[in-house]
Amino acid sequence: KRGNSSMNVVIIGTGYVGLTTGAALAYLGHRVTCVDRDPAKLELLYKKKSPIHEHGLEELMALTGRNLHFTCRVQEAVADADVVLIAVGTPSKSNGEADTQYVEAAAREVAEGFVPGRLYNLVIKSTVPIGTNRRVSQVVKRVLSGRGMGDNTAVLVVSNPEFLREGRALRDTLYPDRIVVGAERPEGVDILRRLYQRILEQTFDPPPFLPRPEGYNLPPLVSTDPTSAEMIKYAANAFLALKISFINEIAGLCEKVGADVTEVARGMGLDPRIGSPFLAAGLGWGGSCFPKDTAALLAMGEEHGYTMPIVAACREVNLRQRYRVVEKLQEALKGVRGRVVGVLGLAFKPGTDDVRESPALDVVRILAERGAHVRVHDPVALANAQRALEGLEVEFFQDPYALAQGAEALVLATEWPEYRHLDLDRLAGMMRTPVLVDGRNLFDPKEAGRAGWTYLGVGR
Ligand code: UDX
Repeated sequence: KRGNSSMNVVIIGTGYVGLTTGAALAYLGHRVTCVDRDPAKLELLYKKKSPIHEHGLEELMALTGRNLHFTCRVQEAVADADVVLIAVGTPSKSNGEADTQYVEAAAREVAEGFVPGRLYNLVIKSTVPIGTNRRVSQVVKRVLSGRGMGDNTAVLVVSNPEFLREGRALRDTLYPDRIVVGAERPEGVDILRRLYQRILEQTFDPPPFLPRPEGYNLPPLVSTDPTSAEMIKYAANAFLALKISFINEIAGLCEKVGADVTEVARGMGLDPRIGSPFLAAGLGWGGSCFPKDTAALLAMGEEHGYTMPIVAACREVNLRQRYRVVEKLQEALKGVRGRVVGVLGLAFKPGTDDVRESPALDVVRILAERGAHVRVHDPVALANAQRALEGLEVEFFQDPYALAQGAEALVLATEWPEYRHLDLDRLAGMMRTPVLVDGRNLFDPKEAGRAGWTYLGVGR
């Protein structure tokens, strides 16, 4: 039962989660077929090119040999699958609720492709509101009984949330902290234990560009009921978002009393009960998960007549950070109308070209609304930002020095490591007025001061 055998795996959806999981499972020896209906994406994937900017992904895809396939035909793919993973999007509805229509549509389509007399495992990887797993089970049952094969085809629906971070998605997949499995029946857990066996036991050769982290311990498998598994994902993300909002709230007070929040975070983080990660004060969090998942939690609370003041406050503080940064600029420049302001970094965090819910883009929007001439730069997210900012009068720059020429202030909005190596002396010399609002506390205030900048960080 615990053999090293490879399984037939089908993954619906080739976004961050689907594609990295697919590439990783194929690398580990499973036969993986990734399904997507976007022809432009498939065109790239057939050539083993990645549609997203993600460290190591194309390199890993190149190592998967004949184990990794792509197709747009769901039903053909699922017929002889052992495990079908659903990893499609769950976008926010206008009330914050996560929209599960794509998950349910995928489940329906998958069930249409099941053949009689087999056992299938349907794994929900998308982040879905509590109760979705149960609903998906019913959807599948209905399709099967509609096809007159309700009795001789077994489908186990299993919840298996992921915790991967963009930019380190493959590392998080191959070397996870834990694997969470929510299943009604023990067989559901067994099947995922087999699927992830080589990760759980770390019995694979790490790809050279994704070495096993030093001191890495074998990940525990957390087996629980589907509803709790769904909740683990939301609670974990909200807690991380909360940690950041908390330090941002402290940062504001640090500014008032003259403390340095980076020192405060260092001193706090050494307490193992607190821990140092996710205590970097700045412009706050964005991306495809924290904003959506905290909104979904609030919506779930509301649905059940339950208020969640901590989650609400953590969102409020997060939004306020963007305005606080703009206000600092406003004060330093005595108004931003007509001023030339350069924004460095547009991705929601470094290491990705993703601009979804990016705080940097909001800063650009607020500045433009208030009449500033905004110039922007990003090492990889410029094209995505251009699409997101369509209709706004913003100048796009390929080179940060060109952007600084004649500008009156710079805002560092995403802490790309390459910005750390910018020549602050040279940059300052090109500015009309060397004002630097460091929205991510990337630079050393003293160094910036020596280079002639008026330096304004967050919480110091
Ligand atoms: C997050 C979770 O970390 C991951 O487990 C989950 O599966 C998906 O959501 P991701 O959105 O890729 O991953 O980014 P993450 O690295 O967690 O950063 C989220 C946001 O928080 C970014 O905008 C980042 O800039 C911000 N952040 C992070 C801070 O402002 N301060 C910090 O100290 C850490």
